[in-house]
Amino acid sequence: MGISLSGRSFLTLLDYSPEEIRYLLGLSAEFKRMKRVGTPHAYLAGKQIVLLFEKTSTRTRCSFEVAARDLGMGVTFLDPGSSQMGKKESLADTAKVLGRLFDGIEYRGYQQSVVEDLAKYSGVPVWNGLTDDFHPTQMLADILTVQEEFGDVRGRKLTFFGDARNNVANSLMVVCAKLGMRFCACGPKELWPKEELIEKCQNVAAKTGAQLEFTDDPLQGAKDCDVLYTDIWLSMGEPDELWAKRIGLLQKYQVNRQLLEAAKDTAIFLHCLPAFHDRNTTVGEEIYQKFGLEAMEVNDDVFLGSQARQFDQAENRMHTIKAVMYATLK
Ligand code: CP
Ligand code: NVA
Repeated sequence: MGISLSGRSFLTLLDYSPEEIRYLLGLSAEFKRMKRVGTPHAYLAGKQIVLLFEKTSTRTRCSFEVAARDLGMGVTFLDPGSSQMGKKESLADTAKVLGRLFDGIEYRGYQQSVVEDLAKYSGVPVWNGLTDDFHPTQMLADILTVQEEFGDVRGRKLTFFGDARNNVANSLMVVCAKLGMRFCACGPKELWPKEELIEKCQNVAAKTGAQLEFTDDPLQGAKDCDVLYTDIWLSMGEPDELWAKRIGLLQKYQVNRQLLEAAKDTAIFLHCLPAFHDRNTTVGEEIYQKFGLEAMEVNDDVFLGSQARQFDQAENRMHTIKAVMYATLK
């Protein structure tokens, strides 16, 4: 039976079956191949999309723009300062207008309910480009990268080190459950994923054979690990005052040589980026001045090492976002 995602929104991978996720991954690999050999693929010529960003972005915005142009579509970008949304016009009214003008809408912002309402009121596919709860387009890029390294991902152990209840960690737990992987959340108990989401993922795992593990012991997290994954310790939208507390809680979960050596010899390192792996950013330097840390969630030894795959992963954002837009708009 063929899979059709035409007209669907892409808000969280909880809404997608394992077969549908595998279909999107296959399509992504095909788009990557076409881009590499220079085969034109302007299959959606004449369509128009809009990108709404209430938080900053490099990879997600650029991936949507490049992918849309490769597919032959027109792109409009709106940042928080340049639309009426929320200030002079309700979300529902904005969504209704955008749905009249555009064939698809990307949204990055805060509450998951906003992206859900955009989908509800616009009547066109809406793609979640990151909310406080989920980052689903990131997941396809991450799994494509794991697949490129290992082939079949089933049974592979992916450990997320750090703030294991942020949008990226939540989404990793969902995608690993869907695809029959071993997911390990490794961090202090107070930053493990919320019970409600764990329960949903356990129900999925019971059907797919996935295993979900939770530990506050970094060496236990690294044991038998195929993919060491981390993300920044303070996500967009969280107050700067939390830095001191997070550093205190998460310092021992930094992905460094010791953790890498405790994992499988063949293990790879992934990071959604941006990463604080040195002092070459304003925030990185401020943290060094205040707390004396040269690096935070990962150090240069790992980030610049031979097992790091984060730039392949970043490239894969574009191919996978292209697949999502194509599958839902064709
Ligand atoms: N990984 C990711 O979403 O990066 P940006 O914040 O740069 O889009
Ligand atoms: N957890 C991070 C992911 C950035 C891509 C954030 O929300 O800031």
